[in-house]
Amino acid sequence: MFTFAPTEGQTTAQLHADLLEAATALTDGEPDGVANMANIAALIWQFLPDLNWAGFYRMVEGELVLGPFIGKPACIRIAVGQGVCGAAAASGETQLVPDVHAFPGHIACDAASRSELVVPVIRDDMVIAVIDLDSPSPSRFTQDDARGIEALAKAISARI
Ligand code: SME
Repeated sequence: MFTFAPTEGQTTAQLHADLLEAATALTDGEPDGVANMANIAALIWQFLPDLNWAGFYRMVEGELVLGPFIGKPACIRIAVGQGVCGAAAASGETQLVPDVHAFPGHIACDAASRSELVVPVIRDDMVIAVIDLDSPSPSRFTQDDARGIEALAKAISARI
């Protein structure tokens, strides 16, 4: 059993620091990328409040394919350039979307989603996956969340 858990009353930056520490510790020495993505998705879900989906899409033969996640069943394949995940994969840049209904081409996997944060995972200058977080609350994600998930993506890029 692992007992990583957030502490009451932490700032967003502190939550992300603890999430990063937990994810780094839990994946240390484990070569199986699927196991590591599954545990990282579970940790994100545990540490960050107000999410309805958290997980990975992996770059497989030029398109994004669903990876380990927590949330409702989601679309399996996303073309690069399509939706928020595809935009992150195409640009290699974080996509912070305060209102998914205002994002052209947003793919609604869960009708409850109102805001979204997608961070590319980059290894050897290539996007190998994206981390996708959805929230039922509008404008849920801040720059602190973006910076936190970017740090997480960097730390685990060689472990997934
Ligand atoms: N909304 C995403 C699709 C993935 S689901 O949110 C899990 C998008 O527009 O790329």
